[in-house]
Amino acid sequence: TWTMGAFRERAIARIRAQVGKGRVICGLSGGVDSSVAAVLIHEAIGDQLTCVFVDHGLMRQAEADEVVSLFRGHYNIPLVHVDASELFLKELAGVEDPEAKRKTIGRLFIDVFDAEASKVGGADFLAQGTLYPDVIESVSFAGGPSVTIKSHHNVGGLPERMNMKLVEPLRDLFKDEVRALGRELGLPESFVGRHPFPGPGLAIRCPGAVTREKLDILRQADAIYLEEIRYAGLYDVIWQAFAVLLPVRTVGVMGDGRTYDNVLALRAVTSVDGMTADFYPFDMAFLGRVATRIINEVKGVNRVVYDVTSKPPGTIEWE
Ligand code: XMP
Repeated sequence: TWTMGAFRERAIARIRAQVGKGRVICGLSGGVDSSVAAVLIHEAIGDQLTCVFVDHGLMRQAEADEVVSLFRGHYNIPLVHVDASELFLKELAGVEDPEAKRKTIGRLFIDVFDAEASKVGGADFLAQGTLYPDVIESVSFAGGPSVTIKSHHNVGGLPERMNMKLVEPLRDLFKDEVRALGRELGLPESFVGRHPFPGPGLAIRCPGAVTREKLDILRQADAIYLEEIRYAGLYDVIWQAFAVLLPVRTVGVMGDGRTYDNVLALRAVTSVDGMTADFYPFDMAFLGRVATRIINEVKGVNRVVYDVTSKPPGTIEWE
């Protein structure tokens, strides 16, 4: 019978056979996929692996620190942590188009990663946490009429430029299987069970141009929303939940004053693999509670709306 334990053993043997005595470099995004790939590869080849975490400053509250302490503290896997948030913000200034944001972030990610890879003396292999849905979503659009919906930057680009062979031990797995493998490898449940998070991060959750102020507002609101979802015991039945800070200001009233602040949209969906999704039917009392907390606690938001669009016809992210 097929078990995760058996998959782990076979994956380790395959990584060793592919890599031999070569050096591998792994780009960490902060998410579950690249982390599981890195821990698995480290188990296979130990210090032939170097992990580089390019921190674009577009993560959620506390997520970057969690990754760093997981690798350095829990696993004792050496990790190069590059804080590149200034660079990313500078290059994203004024960029409004969603695909232009992805391209900018993808390009910078490669530049920063490339520079770090040279500093550690290069490598023969590049490791990526590519999953099966990443493979089919990108392949099914290639060559056909140009119907690419979103150019996920975690597939392609890097290896050609850096002249390295790819190590992709998760290529045959779906998200739930990656989580099972993560548990098998002893990753903490709080980490393994995390909702998926897109490579371009919060940049695609601020429609319009990204600024540090918008990111700060979004981080605070997102943290409150997720805290309430956890508190209600709903985190694990939801595939993904997040806030989107809209570039729309509306009038409100607070105390005895008029406010003129931004609208925040809340999104939550259930899904099996991210390819299709249904909006999550929260009860109204829950949504009301979250809205009240966000408006009271987050300066810059005076109205909260809930997105009831499923995929298709909507996508999960707003950009
Ligand atoms: P959509 O919005 O296309 O998202 O329904 C499906 C899943 O993919 C994630 N997503 C991305 N992941 N880079 C990523 O690594 C991206 O550019 C990107 N865009 C969307 C999204 O969060 C959802 O899990």
